[in-house]
Amino acid sequence: MRSSLREASPRRYLMCPPAHFRVTYSINPWMDPAKPVDLPLAQTQWEDLRDRYTALGHTVELLTPQPGLPDMVFAANGATVIDGRVLGARFAYPERTAEAAAHLDWFRSHGYAEIHEPDHVNEGEGDFAVTASWILAGRGFRSSPLSHDEAQEFFGRPVIGLDLVDPRYYHLDTALCVLDDAADEVMYYPGAFSPGSRAVLARLFPDALIAEEADAAALGLNAVSDGRHVLLPQAAVGLFEPLRARGFEPVGMDLGELLKGGGSVKCCTQELRA
Ligand code: ARG
Repeated sequence: MRSSLREASPRRYLMCPPAHFRVTYSINPWMDPAKPVDLPLAQTQWEDLRDRYTALGHTVELLTPQPGLPDMVFAANGATVIDGRVLGARFAYPERTAEAAAHLDWFRSHGYAEIHEPDHVNEGEGDFAVTASWILAGRGFRSSPLSHDEAQEFFGRPVIGLDLVDPRYYHLDTALCVLDDAADEVMYYPGAFSPGSRAVLARLFPDALIAEEADAAALGLNAVSDGRHVLLPQAAVGLFEPLRARGFEPVGMDLGELLKGGGSVKCCTQELRA
């Protein structure tokens, strides 16, 4: 047990209210258009997350939700921002294509000068995770392997490609979470990755927190850490003690309505890294 708590650092996040959230199509195994979504409840759950960030001292920027783009609430997918440089997204499914332009417009009107419109499919922070040493990049379901080279060239950081093999964990951020981005500390669920990628993760992160299947299945890895507080789906109860043992403060959130779209805490949160 670590004797001292970790230190949080103030973050800037981009979020999009779920005003038009629906499940009208299915592009991941969590989505069942036959299951009704309680929109007011989704709104309340999303507001709890936003309010939690601001209460922790973080800044939350807002993207205007657009009718006809029911997945826009999953703001993590719309771009990747590192060192103030913006790599736009290019979505794998036509249902989400138009979200990329909405994100680019936001960055253009908020003073971002270095913006790259991608040639290859990448779903933003859904598949890109940033540690101190690397950009971890998922592939297999959404982002193209070619987008990994594109990200490496644009950001000038080494990109480590990781193969996702279980359709429930279709984005990297459903299977892996960066706990401390000033170091190289992560938690992940090995079962979501190919044997080779598991070996790569074990080599790069020998001290990682390894999640059990039940917590992964509650989308517990879809979490956001500020270096101290780890906001995660509250149903991922098995992660709380291991996080505390490392000096983190787990903060359980209920985003049950958004889970019907296949997303939780991290999916709703894009980090704007200065
Ligand atoms: N329904 C959305 C999709 O399948 C959910 C996206 C979740 N976002 C994430 N960062 N994993 O594209």
